Amino acid sequence: MGTDRKRLAAEKAAGYLKDGMIVGLGTGSTAYWAIREIGRLVKEGLSIQAIATSKPSEAHARRLGIPLVTFKDVDRIDITIDGADEVDTQLQVIKGGGGALLREKIVASATKELIIIVDDEKLVDQLGRFPLPVEIVPFGSERTLRQLDALGCNPELRMHEDTPFVTDNGNYTADCRLGQIEKPYELHEAINRMVGVVDNGLFLDMAHRIIIGCSDGTVNEWEKR
Ligand code: A5P
Repeated sequence: MGTDRKRLAAEKAAGYLKDGMIVGLGTGSTAYWAIREIGRLVKEGLSIQAIATSKPSEAHARRLGIPLVTFKDVDRIDITIDGADEVDTQLQVIKGGGGALLREKIVASATKELIIIVDDEKLVDQLGRFPLPVEIVPFGSERTLRQLDALGCNPELRMHEDTPFVTDNGNYTADCRLGQIEKPYELHEAINRMVGVVDNGLFLDMAHRIIIGCSDGTVNEWEKR
């Protein structure tokens, strides 16, 4: 059922792609369906070039024959389709549950239209129920975690089996159990000011369109005004 909702949202989003576009490919189980659909459209003749936000998404796109480029080749991306962990009614987003927030934010920040695809369980009135991922440098990470704790972030180092989870960029991730984020802009700034923090999963004022796959089989769209 969850998969159906993700797939519905992903296929709707892929409908926005046009010939000649540079397309950002997201990461995660919802973006997976978008990449699959884009692969199908490319096989049918859609002419695009894509840039991936993670090694798994890059490998998936390559398997499907989607032409890939890097930032060596392009500076601007027309449309990026990516998932999210939480979305509020102001189109503010938490990402990074899948461990790819930094590449996702680099790609999103180079993108003219960021389309976020989610199922309706990801919608919240206030961000923060989902632990906010923060990408941190391994050197001094114990101290960075203590600093995040002192800020009231309640961080937990993300683990993969018995060792810290390592991102595609060679960094660690701290998941911050905040409960509710009252002041997202202030929190974003305070976290990113810390030496040792690379970036955090708050994507503020970045999404242009949210496409929501709903449990009744419908798809809703919210557009930035
Ligand atoms: C990857 O780092 C994340 O930002 C994902 O986009 C996000 O966690 C959503 O993933 P799912 O679509 O798998 O829920």
